[in-house]
Amino acid sequence: MILTQKYISLPELKIDDLTVKLPIIQGGMGVGISMAGLASAVADQGGIGVISSVGLGLLHDKEMKNYRAGNIIALREEIRKAKRLSSGIVGVNVMVAVSDYDDLVRTALEEEIDILFLGAGLPLRLPNGVSIEFLKSVKTKIIPIVSSARAAKIIFQTWEKKFNHIPDGVVVEGPKAGGHLGFKPEQIDDPAYALEEIVPQVVSVIKPFRIKYGKDLPVIAAGGIFTGEDIFRFLQMGASGVQMGTRFVATNECDADIRFKEQYIYCKKEDIVIIKSPVGLPGRAIINNFLRDVSAGIKMPFTCPWKCLKTCDFKTSLYCIAKALMKAKIGNLTNGFSFAGSNAYRIENIISVKELIENLKREFEIAYLELTKILTPQFAL
Ligand SMILES: Cc1cc2nc3c(=O)[nH]c(=O)nc-3n(C[C@H](O)[C@H](O)[C@H](O)COP(=O)(O)O)c2cc1C
Repeated sequence: MILTQKYISLPELKIDDLTVKLPIIQGGMGVGISMAGLASAVADQGGIGVISSVGLGLLHDKEMKNYRAGNIIALREEIRKAKRLSSGIVGVNVMVAVSDYDDLVRTALEEEIDILFLGAGLPLRLPNGVSIEFLKSVKTKIIPIVSSARAAKIIFQTWEKKFNHIPDGVVVEGPKAGGHLGFKPEQIDDPAYALEEIVPQVVSVIKPFRIKYGKDLPVIAAGGIFTGEDIFRFLQMGASGVQMGTRFVATNECDADIRFKEQYIYCKKEDIVIIKSPVGLPGRAIINNFLRDVSAGIKMPFTCPWKCLKTCDFKTSLYCIAKALMKAKIGNLTNGFSFAGSNAYRIENIISVKELIENLKREFEIAYLELTKILTPQFAL
């Protein structure tokens, strides 16, 4: 490897006029896995803490009687709570595929969230009630999440053409991530779609926009990033930061029940499987009896008072994914299951966010020293 960037220690991350102390983003994790507790802890340590907006209303209104209104109220509460708990940088993750996408984006903008991460679909239109003038006037940065250079290009070109404006950066999520994946099942293990392949492709697609607009437009790598050495490698490939999910689940501050976190500690490599989600996308999760029953064709009875996902085929679906994920969040793994990244089996214990960040910093610095020793042996001690 050529040492392209001389990062001795974890560098800052610049997103337009925003400077983040560390280039580490804690990925938004639903339902209720990353809320104000985790997000504020990460923000406090100098990274970006992200609240997942999906299904928050369900935690208050389990019968989904007024799910839509409940989601707005709950998101507003979480943002305010995170802001009370930390003066660091906090973001909100909104899935483009949810029916109340417009409401959630508008709420996060009204609350002046620092960054909006828009995933699970391409954000090619402005939400109802949000004009481009308004978007340009607020301090919120917009960062879409993509799984290919093609998707990044489509978003940036469309925004430029339609709005004469572009997003502030992009997260590129590879096939090793947890949760829903933006890949076809056959692409997941194909080396051509590995994150190491896609990151440089996204960097070259974004480069002309960086030059034209004179902006940093960071490319953030996600999916399977586990150690500080991994962060070092992806920064060398041209990423400006990383987004990590799985590692943050196994922290004291993560908002999931301890039984959810324990799944990560006790699972083995072969327990981490790809499922076909009712959303219509593949997803990575930890196998349990609930998922075994579903894959055997057993239907889990449910009613759907409100179709929360635009793409959910709830009439043929064997279970309600929103409810299953909500159950898992509160530790009921008989009626639910947990999403997890491909490296979840490497988790050995639950630590604090502070400890995790300190470990990542140390590993990053060691990776730099190791590489300089190889490249310039005369300087080796
Ligand atoms: C339990 C769990 C829930 C997730 N939920 C969401 C979500 O609601 N929206 C989203 O865009 N990504 C979601 N993700 C993806 C993460 O934000 C992150 O990008 C990904 O997990 C990174 O890969 P890693 O887990 O290997 O670090 C989820 C991941 C996990 C593990």
